[in-house]
Amino acid sequence: MRIDILTVVPELLESPLSHSIMKRARTKGLLEVNIHHLRDWAVNEYGQVDDYQYGGGAGMVMMPEPLANAIEALSAKTRYDEIIYMTPDGPPFNQSTANQLSLKENLLIICGHYKGIDERIRQHFITMDISIGDYVLSGGELAAAVVVDAVGRLLPGVLNDETSALFDSFQDNLLAPPVYTRPADFRGLKVPDILLSGDPRKIEEWRHDQSVQRTADRRPDLHQSSD
Ligand code: ADE
Repeated sequence: MRIDILTVVPELLESPLSHSIMKRARTKGLLEVNIHHLRDWAVNEYGQVDDYQYGGGAGMVMMPEPLANAIEALSAKTRYDEIIYMTPDGPPFNQSTANQLSLKENLLIICGHYKGIDERIRQHFITMDISIGDYVLSGGELAAAVVVDAVGRLLPGVLNDETSALFDSFQDNLLAPPVYTRPADFRGLKVPDILLSGDPRKIEEWRHDQSVQRTADRRPDLHQSSD
């Protein structure tokens, strides 16, 4: 999968996408991430990409020309399945969206800044909006990193044990069960006996029950939709 990201702060994306599982995905050639600096398409020699908003009001708006020119230049080289705009007013990102995006070949992600991007770009170029939650970040970069991470780890071959993403929280609208490691007795706190029993069927049952219980307790909204 190839993901191109358009941003005015490339530095914000470099570290989150260069370590751990994302590093492995990129090194193995399973995920190609290209970060593009919007200022390369600035309207003047000062690197301008934003301007005052019509109608007045505080905050700058990202201008349509640099965005349109950048999107067109990138689209001339790659046929994008989706052109995604990271924005708090988009539909909330979830595991189901991550699963769907992981099946695509080429994505372009636009990171907003300031008051956002000119509405005409949204109407004519953007095919999908994504919010990562009901709060406002300073820009779309951290949100884009969240999306790339959640999608990238689902690509076949990225995780060591290919099945492990299947048991992540949310894959079936259930939260993951509790996990334990050595020692079996930590300051008098014991690992549940069943996990030491060596009986895979009972362990599986116990994990499922724990997932259901945890989801009912902590996320009753998910629990209802898992019925
Ligand atoms: N940009 C600013 N806030 C955001 C959010 N919550 N989700 C996605 N992009 C954003």
